Amino acid sequence: MEFPATRLRRLRSTPAMRSLVRETHLQPGALIYPLFICEGEGVRRPISSMPGVFNLSIDEALKEVEECASLGVGGVLLFGIPDSKDELGTGAYATDGIVQRAIKAIKATKAAQSLVTIADVCLCEYTSHGHCGVVARDGEHYSVENDSSVALIAKAAASLAVAGADIVAPSDMMDGRIAAIRLALDDAGKQNTPIMSYASKFASAFYGPFREAAGSTPQFGDRRTYQMDGANLREAMREIEQDVAEGADMLLMKPAMPYLDVVREARNRFDLPMGAYQVSGEYSMLHAAFERGWLEPERAMLESLLGIRRAGADFIVTYFAKDAAKLL
Ligand code: PBG
Repeated sequence: MEFPATRLRRLRSTPAMRSLVRETHLQPGALIYPLFICEGEGVRRPISSMPGVFNLSIDEALKEVEECASLGVGGVLLFGIPDSKDELGTGAYATDGIVQRAIKAIKATKAAQSLVTIADVCLCEYTSHGHCGVVARDGEHYSVENDSSVALIAKAAASLAVAGADIVAPSDMMDGRIAAIRLALDDAGKQNTPIMSYASKFASAFYGPFREAAGSTPQFGDRRTYQMDGANLREAMREIEQDVAEGADMLLMKPAMPYLDVVREARNRFDLPMGAYQVSGEYSMLHAAFERGWLEPERAMLESLLGIRRAGADFIVTYFAKDAAKLL
């Protein structure tokens, strides 16, 4: 046999040939765009570490939803920035909470019919201490309580579903929250609202810019007693198993790029629809390199998203959703 019989380069010869044999595809409908909703009117406050991302009042958020819909973006993921916070994060489950009001406004638009309105469910944006649950203090020591937090998180999920969220997405990492949320949703008459569980969420430095955006930096301590240790892949599978058993409808893995092996392993083991969250730090570091002219923006952005899809994610939560959709 002549060497080499197999020449893999034959199928790379032209754009058309490459397109024909492409294994992984990106499409706007599989992208979800996060929105940070604040009080006020006409507010569009830039987040310094996340170029192109803003804190938006509800009227401004509606413009974003409109644009996302026209670009074919699959969904929006809502985070709230309330004016006032307290120990128990009551803003998270207030009937007239900032996200509850935003959902009602969004769902009343025509644009909302062509995309999915997803509510992030957590307490950290609403608690004065910035933790994702109820804090118990004992002198110098503190702990983030599990079960009392779960009760409030379930309440928040139900109130967001009643406000009209198409999907609720708990991101707190308390144990047992999926079962509690399912019960609360059913009790509220929301049997048909799916739960997208941030099933495997690691305690990550890559959430840094988000905490500026959402004003949710813990005032003391860190999130390591509830979010996962970045070293643990097997434990991530146990987290997912648990959430599936409790009734999760879909999974969200987070962060994406530093944990693509975890995404792949989850894809191999579980058949639920699964997304990955390209988090704030992943976005910010790419933008920092774009600003310096060190990376080609469009190519690097699409490559970062393609990698996440190739690892096994069906959909991607990304601050690049609109930019990517424009190119696809
Ligand atoms: C809230 C929450 C966080 C993110 C999503 N939901 C922050 C955190 O856990 O500290 C991070 C998203 C991002 O970095 O883009 N629990």
